[in-house]
This record gives sequence, structure tokens and C-alpha cells, in this order.
Amino acid sequence: MGRLEGKSAIVTGAASGIGRAIARRFAAEGAKVMIADITHTPKEGGIPTEELIAEEGGTVLWWPCDISKPDDVDRMVTRAAAEWGRLDIIVNNATAWTSTRLTETSPEQWREVMGVNADGYFFCCKRAVQQMLTQPVVNEARGRIVNITSQHGMVAVPNDVAYGVGKAATVYITRQIAADYARDYIICNAVAPGRIITGKPGIAQDPKSLEYGRSRTPFPRLGKPEDVANAALFLASDECTFISGENLMVDGGWMAS
Ligand SMILES: NC(=O)c1ccc[n+]([C@@H]2O[C@H](COP(=O)([O-])OP(=O)(O)OC[C@H]3O[C@@H](n4cnc5c(N)ncnc54)[C@H](O)[C@@H]3O)[C@@H](O)[C@H]2O)c1
Repeated sequence: MGRLEGKSAIVTGAASGIGRAIARRFAAEGAKVMIADITHTPKEGGIPTEELIAEEGGTVLWWPCDISKPDDVDRMVTRAAAEWGRLDIIVNNATAWTSTRLTETSPEQWREVMGVNADGYFFCCKRAVQQMLTQPVVNEARGRIVNITSQHGMVAVPNDVAYGVGKAATVYITRQIAADYARDYIICNAVAPGRIITGKPGIAQDPKSLEYGRSRTPFPRLGKPEDVANAALFLASDECTFISGENLMVDGGWMAS
């Protein structure tokens, strides 16, 4: 028996990187997984996540969803619940950023990032909770939410104001939902990755940015997407009992030092 045997899960932004690793891990543990993304194409290259999971023998469904659009989010949750009878887990992982400081960030850039990192998490959490409230309690849970946050929702990120403010919103909404819906058996936690190497091109491969990550990470390596997937798996599973509102750091000690 897998640790998520028979459970249904949505993972947003699962075409690439950390979301892809979470979706693969969940499927390997027996979950039926919806890959919800604006694209099929992994940023780091390789075959689409849904093809990979199908090859590995998992149950998977790709679904087009822009989490900044409430109608898309509504259709995503409605479809997952119709496909599998209920929604046990949602992992909110999709993200946007600008790599700009306050004074170089335009109102349009701000809105675009907040549309994903703040509004998108709000839409997904709200619609998932609405669905979960209609479901019977199983093993002390109607449903579980795992929000992928960041250490940069708690400490400043160099030159990316909208990203950091949006991530702070994801840390906060995790606690708010945990408190407001605990009596309804809805469990809401977060995983805060530190610096994770996903293989995507761009700023993530910038030598200065990598050096900054290494200088802030006590552990002798930077993170892997699988490190985050392991933590998300625990929080999404029935092993996570009496834990809600937690923001689990997966950062090699960044926030401890
Ligand atoms: N990689 C890191 O070092 C790191 C560090 C801290 C936190 N995080 C967090 O981990 C999560 C995943 O990061 P990653 O590095 O794997 O990201 P990524 O950029 O590799 O992948 C993000 C995915 O989200 C999708 N996406 C973007 N906008 C979307 C939208 N509006 N609707 C639906 N899907 C959308 C993209 O298509 C992509 O597949 C994010 O929440 C990020 O903030 C990552």
C-alpha cells in the first residue's frame, strides 16, 4: 500500500520543477493526480509530467488551469471531484516572479505576480475548501491543503519585492485556514523550500544567485525538488495527525542560521 493509496490530489504548477516532483511522488504513493498548469512543457526540459507518470504506472490527468483566474480554478476543482468522487489533497505550488526591486516594479508587474502568488492561492484554497466541506470525514480529515511557500515569505528576497510579498500571503493564509476550518476537519499546512535546484534556465542558473544560495545554506548542498516532495507527501498523508497551520522549512537550515 502506498502512503496516499486511493487519494485524489491536485498539484498546481506541476508541469515543472518542484510541482513535477511532488506529482510524481504522490502518484508513486498511490494517489490519483491532476497536473494543473498553464502548459504541458517542463521548464527544465524532458517529457510532460503526465506522460512521465503514466509511463511509471500512475493515475494522472492533465488539466489546463491559470490559477489567477477564478473560473479556471472552479473548473479544475469541479473536474477533479467529478473524476475521482472527492478531492482529498490540493498542493498549491504554481508561482510567478519579476526579479525586480520595489522602485523598478511597475503596477502591472505587481498585479501579475500577486495575481498568481496571492490571488491564485486564495482562489485555489477557497474552492478546494468549498469542495472538501461537502465530503465525509475519513481518518480525521475531510481534506488536506499543502501550500508551497518560501523562506522568502518570511525574510527578504534579494530584488524581488512582489514575489516575497505574495509568498508572505501564502504563509499567512495557511494559518488562517488552519484556524478557521479545524473544526471542519480541514487540515492546512505549508512547505517552505529554501534554495532548490530544479534545472530551469534563467535567473535560477545565475552564478551570483547560486553563490548567494550556497552562502545562506548551512547544509553542504542546495535542495532538490525531491526534498520538497518528501515533506509535501508527509503533510498530505494520514501520517500528518494533529498538525495544522505549520510552515515546514525544507531549506538546509537557511532559516535556522
Ligand atoms: N526553486 C526554488 O528555489 C524555490 C525556493 C522557494 C520556494 N519555491 C516555491 O516552490 C514552488 C515551485 O517552484 P519551482 O522553482 O519549481 O517553479 P517553476 O518556475 O519551475 O515552475 C512553476 C510552474 O508553475 C506554472 N505556472 C506559472 N503560472 C501559473 C499559473 N498562473 N497557473 C498555473 N500554473 C502556473 C509554470 O508553468 C510552471 O510549470 C513555487 O511556489 C516557488 O515559489 C521555490
